[in-house]
Amino acid sequence: MRKINIGLVGIVLVAMVGLNCVNTKVSSNSDEQYYLDLGKNISSTTQAVLGKNLMNAMAKGGPEYALEFCNSKAYPLTDSMALVHKTSIKRVSDKARNPLNQANRLEKSIIVSVKEQLKNGESPKSEIREVKGKMVAYYPIVTNAMCLQCHGKVNQTVQQKTFDKINDYYPKDQALGYDVNQLRGLWVVEMQKTK
Ligand code: HEC
Repeated sequence: MRKINIGLVGIVLVAMVGLNCVNTKVSSNSDEQYYLDLGKNISSTTQAVLGKNLMNAMAKGGPEYALEFCNSKAYPLTDSMALVHKTSIKRVSDKARNPLNQANRLEKSIIVSVKEQLKNGESPKSEIREVKGKMVAYYPIVTNAMCLQCHGKVNQTVQQKTFDKINDYYPKDQALGYDVNQLRGLWVVEMQKTK
């Protein structure tokens, strides 16, 4: 008798917990996926615009000229894309060049876990969190060979004259010394909740 009762309670409990999990998980997962996709669109188009402008500037006047371009245009370009999408978008790093792009605590913790993924040979994952009633998505930014002209090692991939210019504009720069396939930072897209 006692045995059956415990068994029944167990089954009911498992069923309740199970259902609960399924119910909450299914709906929130699909919402999360919706915002992850929306944010991905926004960060990709912004990255494409920045990247295209950067490549043009590099072709026109090399890294020194492009550096001036980044200094004066990275913010306005990013902001204009945010206007287009009616959201806020920014780039952050744990080793920022522009101090305005310094990652906060939550962003730093995501950076730490993405670095772990890269170290383990996994592909870097995006993340989504609800922060102060908004959906915030985080997308890893990984270096390629081109980036190293301004974010690599001085006198190896970064020319001395480029380094001098970096020092002029960014006396507190921390964004040197990178290699390819390393995490340089995150795109952070903040979206209003509409569902
Ligand atoms: C021509 C030089 C140059 C090249 C090439 C370059 N960057 Fe940068 N990068 C800069 C400058 C300058 C800033 C600071 C922009 C600002 O003032 O907002 C910057 C800022 C950043 C930031 C924002 C965080 C921070 O440190 O301020 C990220 C992320 C970033 N770069 C990633 C990359 C990646 C990835 C590549 C290659 C695909 C790349 N950069 C190529 C010059 C460059």
